[in-house]
Amino acid sequence: MTSPLVIAVPKELAPGEQRVATVPEVVRNLIKSGCEVRVEHDAGAGSYYPDTMFAAAGAKIVSERAGLLDGARIVLRVQPPTVTDIDQLAEGTIVIGFMNAANNLEAIKRMRDRKITAFSLELVPRISRAQSMDALSSQATAGGYVAVILGAQNCPKFLPMLTTAAGTIRPSTVLVLGAGIAGLMAIATAKRLGALVEAYDVRRAAGEQVRSLGAKFLELEINAEGQGGYARELTAEEKVKEQEMVSAAVARADIVITTAAIPGRKAPVLITKETVAKMQPGAVIIDMAAETGGNCELTQAGKTVREHGVMIIGPQNLPARVPFHASQMYAKNLLSFLSLLIDKNGALVTGFTDEILTASLLVHAGTVRHQPTLDLLEGSKV
Ligand code: NAI
Repeated sequence: MTSPLVIAVPKELAPGEQRVATVPEVVRNLIKSGCEVRVEHDAGAGSYYPDTMFAAAGAKIVSERAGLLDGARIVLRVQPPTVTDIDQLAEGTIVIGFMNAANNLEAIKRMRDRKITAFSLELVPRISRAQSMDALSSQATAGGYVAVILGAQNCPKFLPMLTTAAGTIRPSTVLVLGAGIAGLMAIATAKRLGALVEAYDVRRAAGEQVRSLGAKFLELEINAEGQGGYARELTAEEKVKEQEMVSAAVARADIVITTAAIPGRKAPVLITKETVAKMQPGAVIIDMAAETGGNCELTQAGKTVREHGVMIIGPQNLPARVPFHASQMYAKNLLSFLSLLIDKNGALVTGFTDEILTASLLVHAGTVRHQPTLDLLEGSKV
């Protein structure tokens, strides 16, 4: 009898990371398909999946990193591995997770040199067959939800309309800039809390989705739908028009959630300092693009800035604030991805010929397979 394929799940050590790459329900499925699953002691503590739950699902709980990784063919992670993590892996190990390649060139180079195979979930193509593996979407959904909760918590007003003996309270206005995955979840959440919701996106196709959630879509004479359904960068003239329209909407909002992003580029600035000065005192901006430069000129990643009575929050890693469900969704994305890598007999497939595997293969057998990352490596001194 051949020994089972070993899948290891380390505890995430990045500061503030509460998520874990697998959950007990997924462990059960992997074991059913013939794999051995090892989970590092306390890997699920931050997301409220205790070792006992993993053990009951059939996972082996391992205290030492070395024991966890010894003989492991596949390592499941949330955050990209650090150089130290990579140095603990045997040649040929497959690592699957977010890789944030553009900002982790040192680690990419180390994986290349140590002949590690890395699949980057950011590179999973957005085709219908890959929807169940789309971790960017599942985590953006979690982030969009948390952004509204954070906004409501910091807003000095009620969100819903209230009719009480002490008078009638007008509903708050929530403005969502960027109606992609995170933005649509933010719109739905703000609607459920009873706010008046307005939203804007440069892709006109987003209008129908916004309206179907019961929110008002702000129209502008621009349609910047680019490649693969993503937005393209606006021209200088378009940017001026956009800022004028956005500025008026921002000034009447109580909470602004910004999510605008262009893949591979710095986030577009939609809210200038001057626009912040026109906002109502007590208004809150949750800038979900904080980590890629911010949609508001005043945003500082990981900090809260107060200007003109407006609170500008630049949160980092919002999905980690709902770690139970964010981990559950992420773990299911990984399970679905693994179905391409593991055959019916619980063995690793030979060759990564499936188009989803080919597209998401970042490093393999001593070479970087993703051209934009290769270009960055060549241009850097790493
Ligand atoms: P994202 O995180 O790259 O961007 C967020 C939003 O910001 C996008 O809707 C984008 O249009 C918007 N944006 C960019 N520049 C802007 C500006 N200057 N002003 C206002 N908004 C701006 O995108 P996300 O959320 O990851 O996905 C966006 C697109 O991908 C959507 O069309 C979505 O339907 C599509 N998608 C398709 C999937 C599939 O077919 N399997 C899965 C997930 C997303």
